[in-house]
Amino acid sequence: MIRLPGLVDLHVHLRDPGQTHKEDFLTGTSAALAGGFTTVLDMPNNAVPVTTARTLSDKIETARRRIVCDTGLYLGSLGEDLSPLAELHDRVWGLKLYLNATTGSCLMDATRLARVFSAWPEGRPILLHAEADVIDTVVQACRSTGRAVHVCHVSSRAELEPVLEAKAEGLPVTCGVTPHHLFLTDEDATGMGPVGEVRPCLKSAADQYFLWENLHDIDVVESDHAPHTPEEKQRGTFGFPGLETTLPLLLQAEREGRLDLDAVVEKCALTPRRIAHLPEQPDTWVDVEPVEFTITAESMQSRAAWTPFAGRTGFGRVHEVTLRGEVVYRDGKVLARPGSGRLLTPTGAR
Ligand code: NCD
Ligand code: ZN
Ligand code: ZN
Repeated sequence: MIRLPGLVDLHVHLRDPGQTHKEDFLTGTSAALAGGFTTVLDMPNNAVPVTTARTLSDKIETARRRIVCDTGLYLGSLGEDLSPLAELHDRVWGLKLYLNATTGSCLMDATRLARVFSAWPEGRPILLHAEADVIDTVVQACRSTGRAVHVCHVSSRAELEPVLEAKAEGLPVTCGVTPHHLFLTDEDATGMGPVGEVRPCLKSAADQYFLWENLHDIDVVESDHAPHTPEEKQRGTFGFPGLETTLPLLLQAEREGRLDLDAVVEKCALTPRRIAHLPEQPDTWVDVEPVEFTITAESMQSRAAWTPFAGRTGFGRVHEVTLRGEVVYRDGKVLARPGSGRLLTPTGAR
């Protein structure tokens, strides 16, 4: 067995409430455990965006009843009414802003960034969906406000290079990469047709090479677990599920000598916890059986029922997950009671 610390995913979409035909807090956090993740942070682009007290309360109530791993929520903002940021920050773990069009209706104008940053308490995570066209604006807002920001899912040289320059300048910018941008390219997308749609879209082999060459300076791997049904994918809906394939893809890459095990642990556990100031999980670990297997969507916990990585070789099956001393998952079965995960808030506020 390989024993790993509980993994941390800063970027998942569990779709609850509003789109539970895609996923809900129980199936989504079950998928997390099955993938070796014991903490996940859930994005606010629900069917009704989580930008108000009302939508947030609904989400918190639902989460409390269903989660089986520790879960924090992000607040969204369109950058217009800033009062929810001041009112609600204690009930969420972070703020997520969308500067490009993607699933949901959370799009915000990048010119509002500095104002929004200033309305958010210092020291609390800010994550951004910011593709190449807006990355300079992000770096400028970071420079002018001094706020730490995390750029989600860098997918290309054009997105990563400015982030690396900002880091070299000493700005508090971090970034994440997804397994799909590390393991799939625009050629795969072409072969998949509408099913291959994701934002940021899959890039060229040259861009992918740039990500791997600079992996050392990419802070975290985030799954961007974005479940949609196979039918919705036929219509080109953006996003791929990823919680149950991230670890086996990375462990297989480790076997191929593309990164080492310490880097996997750093990018999937230690650094995301540090970036988001997440609490430690004592007596929490994941035992992984060192076996090679062919990835299929069968027997996955996620409701998505498909994976863009079907047919690829993965390494490492999650055998058992222990969360705070309790075995919560073993050999394909979730043993934790729905609602037994912790809902993470900075002050423990409800
Ligand atoms: C995400 C989704 O479906 O919520 N889709 C995606 O293509 N990545 C939204 C996002 O992370 O941009
Ligand atoms: Zn995004
Ligand atoms: Zn996402």
